[in-house]
Amino acid sequence: MRQTIIAANWKMHKTLEEGLELAVAIKAHLQSAPTTDKIAILCTPYIHLFHMVETFREVDHIHVGAQNCHQELQGAYTGEISPQQLSAMGVPYVILGHSERRQYFGEDEALLKAKVDQALAQELQPIFCCGEPLEVRETDGHKALVKKQVEEALFHLSAEQIGEIVIAYEPVWAIGTGKVASPEQAQEMHAHIRQLVADHYGTATADKLSILYGGSVKPNNAADIFQQPDVDGGLIGGASLKAEDFTAIYQAG
Ligand code: PGA
Repeated sequence: MRQTIIAANWKMHKTLEEGLELAVAIKAHLQSAPTTDKIAILCTPYIHLFHMVETFREVDHIHVGAQNCHQELQGAYTGEISPQQLSAMGVPYVILGHSERRQYFGEDEALLKAKVDQALAQELQPIFCCGEPLEVRETDGHKALVKKQVEEALFHLSAEQIGEIVIAYEPVWAIGTGKVASPEQAQEMHAHIRQLVADHYGTATADKLSILYGGSVKPNNAADIFQQPDVDGGLIGGASLKAEDFTAIYQAG
């Protein structure tokens, strides 16, 4: 049985005060939610993380994540955050390779491979994002591109290490656009990713991998997507900024 994960990506939203308010509201909503094989991961801006770890310390099914980290352990990298700093603070997850990092900060597979390695070395679990832009889907190149993204950044890992990874499939054309992938489109790509992992690491490893869908998941479309057999939850942007919406999505998972 693999774990269902409903992850929030707050992106560059919320002041410290607003973020803490949201965290408290989410905690109030989710604290009594059933916990069997389902967790929430709140990936917030760095300024919130220390407080988030404290807020959710006693809550087994709500975890905290960062949205990025550097590939080096420490050093003269002004403005960056190291995986060691995150891990030492008690943060267990980090999003790597979000399409906004790829698009605006030039992150490519070689860099992401280094980030994945360093995150794992610091005992941070990467939520590795992949997904195609619209023009690639329109020319039917989406499966090949996702294959390349996953293989180049992850397939040097051992089977044990790949067991620490969460993959998020996020078609770029669906992120923040209100245009959600159909349940069939999501299922097709998730099955493709699972097959790639099975071909490389065996079906037992592939069957345990949680693959999340991201891109305009809302309370009204979450259940249809999450019902697909290879969709193990979601990475939620806009709708994670309201406690009621995020809770409804968590409950649909
Ligand atoms: P969205 O963002 O839910 O606002 O589309 C998802 C993401 O970027 O992770």
